[in-house]
Amino acid sequence: MRVVFYSQGEDMQQWQAALARHMPDIRLEAWEAAPAGADYAIAWKPPALLFQQQPDLKAMFALGAGVDALIAHCPATLPLIRLEDSGMATQMADYATRMILDWFYRDADYRQQQKQAKWLPYALDDKQQWPIGILGLGQLGSVVAQRCQSLGFPVHGWRNSPEAIPGMTTHWGGAGLQEMLPHCKVLINLLPLTPQTSNLINRDVLDRLPKGAFLINMARGAQVVDEDLLAALDRGQLAGAALDVFRQEPLPATHPFWSHPAIRVTPHVAGITPLHDAAEQIANKLQAFDAGKPVSGLVDRERGY
Ligand code: GLV
Repeated sequence: MRVVFYSQGEDMQQWQAALARHMPDIRLEAWEAAPAGADYAIAWKPPALLFQQQPDLKAMFALGAGVDALIAHCPATLPLIRLEDSGMATQMADYATRMILDWFYRDADYRQQQKQAKWLPYALDDKQQWPIGILGLGQLGSVVAQRCQSLGFPVHGWRNSPEAIPGMTTHWGGAGLQEMLPHCKVLINLLPLTPQTSNLINRDVLDRLPKGAFLINMARGAQVVDEDLLAALDRGQLAGAALDVFRQEPLPATHPFWSHPAIRVTPHVAGITPLHDAAEQIANKLQAFDAGKPVSGLVDRERGY
């Protein structure tokens, strides 16, 4: 079996070693030098050229959970398999926890006060007044939702199919979104990027949130209309936003998000692909696929995730 590898940010030798723990015979080939005829590719954001050079691929394994950037070049008939959780969901639940508790307990205000040696305790809100809304209840969203529940906040979840999840209020479809938004003190985006979710978080959506709400985006920058978010913050409609993903990454140095006092920017680190867990998952799926067995995480091209 021949496997080519492509990733700008990841070290192939590390992946070789991590995969070999589960597939001792695997030999990754750097895609540039690999002659045609490879069976599989393991990649993150590969160029179209990889698919031209390797016309015989039987499947492509993504080094991440969101496959929007891969779908663009990956031939429609080639099975594309994404990472499922592999440790990212817990990190994302941690990210949401850090941001929500910081806002809820007004840590930024107290840090500011400390700089001025100012002693001003605020009354504490009731967690029941801070419902959290999660957009996307897949592998990642469902774990983040459970964490928010365990922190004691009421949780609403939105998905595209009418499946109820115990312990939370679920909403679905366009009407469900309209119905959920007025409840959400914090809106968390964990949707896959598809033509349907592109620019979803626009002025209309932000205006339907209660005044003084917060936004956390851990999915894709192209789902948020930057200008609408800035305007909502400046009008006080939103009280703050924590953004981990952006239309352009790295976020350009001149982008207004960097200096906005109500925005927290992190450099796409809310869910970092954990090498060992991800390598184990890919090795298991690769071997199963090669043996003709079904694998989970196969991207549905119609749905786009
Ligand atoms: C990261 O953004 C991923 O999709 O895994």
